[in-house]
Amino acid sequence: MARKIQKNKMWGGRFNTDQDKIMLEMNSSIEFDSRLYLEDIIASIAHAKMLGKKKIISSVESQKIISGLKKIKIEFEKGIFNLDPLLEDIHMNIEANLQKKIGNVAKKLHTGRSRNDQVATDMRLYMRKQCQEIIKKITMIQKELSKKANKYYDFIMPGFTHMQIAQPVTFGHHLLAYVEMLERDKNRFHDALKRINQSPLGAAALAGTTFPIDREMTSKALGFTNPMANSIDAVSSRDFIIEPLAAASILASHLSRFSEEIILWVSEGFDFIELPDSLATGSSIMPQKKNPDIAELVRGKNGRVIGALMSILVVMKGLPLAYSKDLQEDKELTFDAIDNILNSLEAINAIIKKLKPKKENLSSAAQKSYSTATDLADWLVSNLNIPFREAHKITGNIVRYCEKKKIKLSELTIKELKSFNKKINDDIFNVLDAEQSVNQKKSFGSTSPLMVKKSAAKWIKKLQNEKK
Ligand code: ARG
Repeated sequence: MARKIQKNKMWGGRFNTDQDKIMLEMNSSIEFDSRLYLEDIIASIAHAKMLGKKKIISSVESQKIISGLKKIKIEFEKGIFNLDPLLEDIHMNIEANLQKKIGNVAKKLHTGRSRNDQVATDMRLYMRKQCQEIIKKITMIQKELSKKANKYYDFIMPGFTHMQIAQPVTFGHHLLAYVEMLERDKNRFHDALKRINQSPLGAAALAGTTFPIDREMTSKALGFTNPMANSIDAVSSRDFIIEPLAAASILASHLSRFSEEIILWVSEGFDFIELPDSLATGSSIMPQKKNPDIAELVRGKNGRVIGALMSILVVMKGLPLAYSKDLQEDKELTFDAIDNILNSLEAINAIIKKLKPKKENLSSAAQKSYSTATDLADWLVSNLNIPFREAHKITGNIVRYCEKKKIKLSELTIKELKSFNKKINDDIFNVLDAEQSVNQKKSFGSTSPLMVKKSAAKWIKKLQNEKK
């Protein structure tokens, strides 16, 4: 008996046979692009309104289409919209459902547009929203960091270079370093938004359309700054995804560095901070363990975000203009990267909110490893007019002496110090202690507690004025 051929309802006109299973499977994106339903509906409403206004369809038809789309939106919100995998993607699912709801007039919605400009529009709307969300979350973290920096502006801790104790700094100063990084991250997203927020709608398949559409009108209705000027570029470009993923990768690397520090700081060797139980996990075999998994996960997710950036770059690099189905690959990796960066931001925020620095441990670590040797050398320069290179050498000798005697710089007697240079006087004891060291810093951007306090206050004020 002749079997009825199951042709695609949307484009099956020129086709004679069923699609192979593998064709259907690989082609179907509905499993992941259904999350674009809202963007798709909003963009379709803008398009339908414009078609009515320009009398390309009648205003009654336009109204019917719009009210049908609104009903579909409600079904999605209620979780009762039925997705059909045979209909490939979110665009065709919505259009087919619209037909069921309002009949043949639904067939007019696709006048003067293509899925190519439709999907580019949806993804730009999605990306715009996510970038705004990321910016908000970065601000939230900056606020927490600034508050903590303000609170712990004078907690002394060791600053490191080469992972060796280098010079004393303050805990507040260290935290504010991340506020600065995050500000640049935020600006990268703001900047990307300018290029994301342009409308491809009306570019149709690639060549534009014969209908007298008003691209300004749809662009405005969707909150874009302008319709894109070249229809081929509008449907084939994905740098509006690459750019925010690059910004997200840099941001993820900053979050990962912070996580790495948290992991070190809670370890026994450091013991600089306390993390609450609510942000840790235990071991299934070692009853004593409390692990900083949350920070490890953020560090790990960084790999996925960078991976997404690499994937999309590789997808794009060999694609001739204009649209090719390869472009469908942009979705899963973008969604994954964005989900993970948003989660990572939440996790870091929770960590900062709850972390408690251990003052004593931080300060005693800051006294280790002759961390004030540079201050000693600076003292020789300022007080005895010794050229810095020479002062560096004298101080090196003093450190070697202390190392042998197993004493700290501040434990040297004046007699011992004079043996390295007889002009050295008691004043030198004002710079040998870690607290004195940070207090004496004068240069702009340095770790002096007073400057850190000012800087934290400046950030708190600035961030307060930023929209939530
Ligand atoms: N699902 C497709 C995508 O994500 C939509 C565009 C399809 N366009 C086409 N000409 N087949 O890219």
